[in-house]
Amino acid sequence: MKNALVVNNLSLSVPSAKGRVTVVDDVSFDIPAGKKIGLVGESGSGKSLTAYSLMRLIKDPVQIDKGEIFLGEKEILGMSMKDFRHMRGNDISMIYQDPMSALNPIMRIGAQIIESIRLHSDLDHGQARRLAIEHLASVGIPEPDRRIDSYPFEMSGGMLQRVVIAIALSGEPKVLIADEATTALDVTTQDRVLTLIDKLAAERGLSVLLITHDLGVAAQFSDDIMVMYAGKLVEKGSVNQIFSHPVHPYTKALLDSRCDYTIDVTKPINSIAGQPPRLDNRPDGCVFSPRCEHVQPRCREGVPPLISVQDRLAACFRAEELFHVEMVK
Ligand SMILES: Nc1ncnc2c1ncn2[C@@H]1O[C@H](COP(=O)(O)OP(=O)(O)O)[C@@H](O)[C@H]1O
Ligand SMILES: [Mg+2]
Repeated sequence: MKNALVVNNLSLSVPSAKGRVTVVDDVSFDIPAGKKIGLVGESGSGKSLTAYSLMRLIKDPVQIDKGEIFLGEKEILGMSMKDFRHMRGNDISMIYQDPMSALNPIMRIGAQIIESIRLHSDLDHGQARRLAIEHLASVGIPEPDRRIDSYPFEMSGGMLQRVVIAIALSGEPKVLIADEATTALDVTTQDRVLTLIDKLAAERGLSVLLITHDLGVAAQFSDDIMVMYAGKLVEKGSVNQIFSHPVHPYTKALLDSRCDYTIDVTKPINSIAGQPPRLDNRPDGCVFSPRCEHVQPRCREGVPPLISVQDRLAACFRAEELFHVEMVK
């Protein structure tokens, strides 16, 4: 299957008292055309910086140290910003956690959608306005011909996130990144917005990278899941593989620590022992080794590569062995 997006060996660093420290570490993945990939991991694991790299929004003091990112056939990190600006919005687009950060609070939403449409097309104002109303209708805004003249403060959080989605899709991108895009919404609204993204993705053959710290959201929405820990991708597989038969000890710990109120409220929530590594004090070898209950000396010496284990990818020296242990339990 053709890939809409390919990331090769992406590494990012930030300054610290001890010099530059790596926060995204040799990350590689691809998103096949039309697929929805969930990127999960605790706060601080490098999810947003990975996403910003795809949009070329990395700014000082964060720095891209190496890597390639292909959007379709084109490598974007090496191209001039002038050339990339034509691709942002047209080829790849992003929606953020806080819709207000993407909107101008003192400008009617219609004017903002029209501006975005005209940036990506040569339609005149009247044509763009008609298209904006269509876009608002397609993201489920009731009475779009009236709501187009609303200001952001006149709309609810869920409706604003729909407006932002309409703007993100106005350039008809092939890849959509949603970074915690439903996290700030109540559960019902979250569900509606995810269902909407799902529907639009299917209709338009979009490839989606859904970034969330919420495993339930990732499971509900994605085809495949990637698990990130301390800047490393540690496991990638189908929703079923990740949730039913995870092989990486971090993935297992993350699933065990999930607080699932629907199952058993009397059961204590397990937390993962130890702390995530400090930025300026990354462990040698496997980044999860200091917290891992299956750690062996070799885990502290070498960095386990992300390799194929039981039909998915995992970065653990003991993945194969642990898979079999898990299966006989
Ligand atoms: N502008 C910045 N300056 C310094 N450190 C940063 C900056 N942005 C992010 N970081 C650090 O990089 C790491 C990864 O951040 P981020 O990608 O935002 O994580 P996530 O989205 O998974 O929560 C974190 O440890 C964070 O503190
Ligand atoms: Mg983030």
